[in-house]
Amino acid sequence: MRVKIFLLALLVALSSAGKHDVYKGYTVYGIVTSEGSDLELLHQLEEPLDLDVLQHGDAQRETLVMVAPENNAKFLEKLDEYGIQVYVKVADVPKYFEEFDADYARYRSSRTSREAIPFDNYPRYAEVNEYLERIAAQYPDIVTLVNMGPSYEGRDIKYLKISTTNFTDTSKPIYFMDALIHAREWVTAPVALYSIHRLVEDLRAEDQDLLEGTDWIIMPMVNPDGYEWSHDQERMWRRTRRVDPTVNTTCVGVDANRNFDVAFNTVGVSANPCEQTYPGSAPFSEPETRYVRDILFEHLDRIQLYVNIHSHGNWVLFGFGNRTMPANGVALHHVGAILGSTIDAVKLPQAPFYRVGNSANLLYPSSGSAQDYAQDIGVPFSYTLELPGLGYAFQVPPSYIAKINEETWRGIAQQARLSKMHYNMRIGS
Ligand SMILES: *[C@@H]1O[C@H](CO)[C@@H](O)[C@H](O)[C@H]1NC(C)=O
Ligand SMILES: *[C@@H]1O[C@H](CO)[C@@H](O)[C@H](O)[C@H]1NC(C)=O
Ligand SMILES: *[C@@H]1O[C@H](CO)[C@@H](O)[C@H](O)[C@H]1NC(C)=O
Ligand SMILES: [Zn+2]
Repeated sequence: MRVKIFLLALLVALSSAGKHDVYKGYTVYGIVTSEGSDLELLHQLEEPLDLDVLQHGDAQRETLVMVAPENNAKFLEKLDEYGIQVYVKVADVPKYFEEFDADYARYRSSRTSREAIPFDNYPRYAEVNEYLERIAAQYPDIVTLVNMGPSYEGRDIKYLKISTTNFTDTSKPIYFMDALIHAREWVTAPVALYSIHRLVEDLRAEDQDLLEGTDWIIMPMVNPDGYEWSHDQERMWRRTRRVDPTVNTTCVGVDANRNFDVAFNTVGVSANPCEQTYPGSAPFSEPETRYVRDILFEHLDRIQLYVNIHSHGNWVLFGFGNRTMPANGVALHHVGAILGSTIDAVKLPQAPFYRVGNSANLLYPSSGSAQDYAQDIGVPFSYTLELPGLGYAFQVPPSYIAKINEETWRGIAQQARLSKMHYNMRIGS
């Protein structure tokens, strides 16, 4: 009898199980946040109501939050109490994700194999690696593949060094970019891969100076474990996947972008290991963040510029996360602004203009971020780049990937040039 009931339950579960059922009953709300105090209140509700803020609003932009069914009533009650207007943006989250999947499947199957290049898609971990390996094999004179070692779950984390002088010419600055430190920010890896493409496979005459005058370190996937999990299990997964039995075996992983050793575990973090911004039990508890740290130190004398690529919101942010401005704040703003404004000049009409500034002043205080760490150890220009969400948050339709790649490359190119001028001044040449 027991067995029968169990089997029946299993059958029911199997027949109704959709890929995104973990989000059953979740709602995404849009909130028109006109006042600073509204944002402050939302921020205070984040942890007690386990809100997942999908889009950080400001005076011009709505806030998007995803709310679990058990917190729904309480959430609406609180907003009502404070007179904050809210509307339902996505009523059926699993269905919304399923529609995205279907759209993406159609997009992929409509591409010829020549077009199905990793930077025009949301490539899986294996496809990214294949691309890096192919480029390194095909262009051995200018490209070197480096394997930093395994992620927690054993996926090798690789990056490319791109240089016409094999990283031996100290008169050149290094531009270091990485992507996908946050698992759900899928559109970031294509931008890193497209940058490789433009420097190696499709170098245009007007960009010759970028290849010859600058050395590049490009790491497209800092957090492959979280990324694969976000494809297969939980689309909104942000963190790493390391199990730390001394912390909690139900809730795994940490926010890798709070795990760096800079003002660790002070502001903008949650002490709850189940929350999105849990920083980990100690700085650099994650192999993935240790690899980024090790690259920074290996080339610290020449990394003039570091860009940690995120999605979404059209922001170019810099340190420090505690509102203190780095000593070179004016130049830091300038080199950040050229990235944003170059993209703005060719942006889609529906994309907001990039906003550039201190991350704590523009968005929220934070600690332990990659941006702050690189700045703190001596990289002159260190940024968090938040690519466009175009109103879709993390679900940017694949048909926009090529546009985001191209416009962002323009910004990166101009930023590399300005950064090089600063490097020349720094080394006195
Ligand atoms: C670059 O230098 C490294 C040693 O640092 C060497 O292993 C590698 O083969 C060199 N690559 C090229 C393209 O010369
Ligand atoms: C781990 O997290 C789960 C889910 O929130 C919680 O129920 C459990 O008490 C936690 N365990 C420990 C040891 O903190
Ligand atoms: C803010 O953080 C930076 C980097 O950790 C640090 O150098 C600075 O002293 C901090 N400022 C304050 C007021 O704590
Ligand atoms: Zn992010």
